[in-house]
This record gives sequence, structure tokens and C-alpha cells, in this order.
Amino acid sequence: MTNLQGRRALVTGASRGIGAEIVRRLAADGASVAFTYGRSAAEAEKLVAEATANGAKVVAIQADSADAEQVAKSVDDAVAQLGGLDVLVNNAGVAVLRDIESFSLDEFDRQLAINVRAVFVAIQRAVPHLDSDGRIINIGSINADRVPGPGLAAYAMTKAAVAGLTRGLARELGPRGITVNNVQPGPIATDMNPDEGEFAESAKELMAMGRYGHPSDVAGVVGYLAGRDTGYITGANWNVDGGFTV
Ligand SMILES: NC(=O)c1ccc[n+]([C@@H]2O[C@H](COP(=O)([O-])OP(=O)(O)OC[C@H]3O[C@@H](n4cnc5c(N)ncnc54)[C@H](OP(=O)(O)O)[C@@H]3O)[C@@H](O)[C@H]2O)c1
Repeated sequence: MTNLQGRRALVTGASRGIGAEIVRRLAADGASVAFTYGRSAAEAEKLVAEATANGAKVVAIQADSADAEQVAKSVDDAVAQLGGLDVLVNNAGVAVLRDIESFSLDEFDRQLAINVRAVFVAIQRAVPHLDSDGRIINIGSINADRVPGPGLAAYAMTKAAVAGLTRGLARELGPRGITVNNVQPGPIATDMNPDEGEFAESAKELMAMGRYGHPSDVAGVVGYLAGRDTGYITGANWNVDGGFTV
């Protein structure tokens, strides 16, 4: 028996990158998984086909994280399709790299809606379904603690908000046995943050490991936290950053 056998999980924003790897990991460890995606329907279909071929139950739900109603409905759909919910992974996120003088209010609001409001809404909708070994795992960012260059202020603000929400909800949900943790990746090679180019080279110099991480580095930690034997770990920041903050 694998360690997530019988667990039912929802991962947001998982057509690509870190989220897709989290889906692969949870499914490989025995969980039934629903995931949301925004625009990348072809990638979402491919991920479902790949996981299904490996014998897992994986379903895709189209939902724009910028839209609170769609987020709430995606939780309802996941619960209906999986027959309940044990694990919620809030992964969907965007990073708008822009200096403060050229940031439009629309861009600011959209980033805040996807990176913060959607996390709040998904948790609010999921909590009634989680029992005493429920897990909420947020994907924050090491930028909540360290901002190595200009243009990242608003993104860092959203991820610091996720860290605060994590701590507060760990207090609130602890008595019910539900844990809430915040996984903070450093630079991970995805479409959002390719590991080549000028930005990447300067980032590598700041890391003890001297290289970018792989989405599986984050997925491994999420898979661990999603299990039934991590019920005394809550309110924590899990840095997966190759020594970015050392
Ligand atoms: N890569 C890094 O270095 C790094 C570091 C720290 C933290 N993170 C965090 O890790 C998470 C995943 O990042 P990533 O690098 O995997 O990013 P990515 O490669 O850009 O993938 C982002 C994923 O989120 C989904 N998404 C984006 N906007 C969405 C929306 N409005 N509605 C629904 N889904 C949406 C995308 O789906 P569609 O394409 O289908 O819209 C895609 O599946 C984010 O929260 C990010 O902030 C990443």
C-alpha cells in the first residue's frame, strides 16, 4: 500500500509546472486527484491521459483562479467527482515582474486575486469537507522572505500574505486536526522561471546549491505533507530553495 492510498486531493493550477508535478506525485503515491487549470486545456488533457494510463484516478476542472465563484465551484466539483476531500493544495499563481511606477491597478488586482483571494476562497469552501486528518498545503514563495532584485515587490507581498494566512489558519483549524502548511519554493525551472538567461544566472549565484530546482523537488515535500503521518506539523514554512536564504 502506498502512503496516500485512499486520499482524495485537489491541486489548483496544475496543467503545467510545479502543479502538474504535484499531481503526478500524489497520484503515483495512491491518491485520487482533481486539479484545476486556467487556459492550458491541451496540457491538462495530456496530464489526465498520462496519469490514467498509469492506473490513477485524475480529473481536470477548468476554473479561473481570478474568479472567486469559479474557484468555489471547482472545490464543489472536486468533492463531487472524488467523493470527498482530504487534501487541498493551493498552487495556482502568477508572477508579474514590474516596477511600481508601471504597475497598473488591474494587474495588481488580478495578481492579488489569483495568488491570495483564490487561496482564501478554496480553503473556505474545502474546510467543511476535511476531517481530522485533513491537509491544506499552500505554495508560497521564498520571495516572502527574500527579494533579490527589483520588480518583485507586489508578488512578494502576495506570498507574504499566503504565509500569514497559513499561520492564522493553522491556529484556527488545529483543534479540528486539520494542518495548514506553506511550502516556499526558491527558483524552480518552469515556464514562470526558466533556468536559463540573465535573471537565472544571477539567481544561481545566490543559492548554496548553485542551480535551479526541479518541480519534483517541491512535489516530494507536498507528497510528504499530504500523508496521514504528518498530523503534528502545522503553521510551518517549508523552504525548498536550494539554500537561497542561507
Ligand atoms: N517557478 C518558481 O521559481 C517558483 C518559485 C516560488 C514559488 N512559485 C509558485 O509556485 C506556483 C506554481 O508556479 P510554476 O512555476 O509552476 O508556474 P507556471 O509554470 O507558470 O504554471 C502556473 C500554473 O498555474 C496555473 N494558473 C495560472 N493562472 C491561473 C488562473 N488564473 N486560473 C487557474 N490556473 C492558473 C496555470 O494554468 P493555465 O496555464 O492552465 O492557466 C499553470 O498550470 C505558483 O504559485 C508560483 O508563484 C514558483
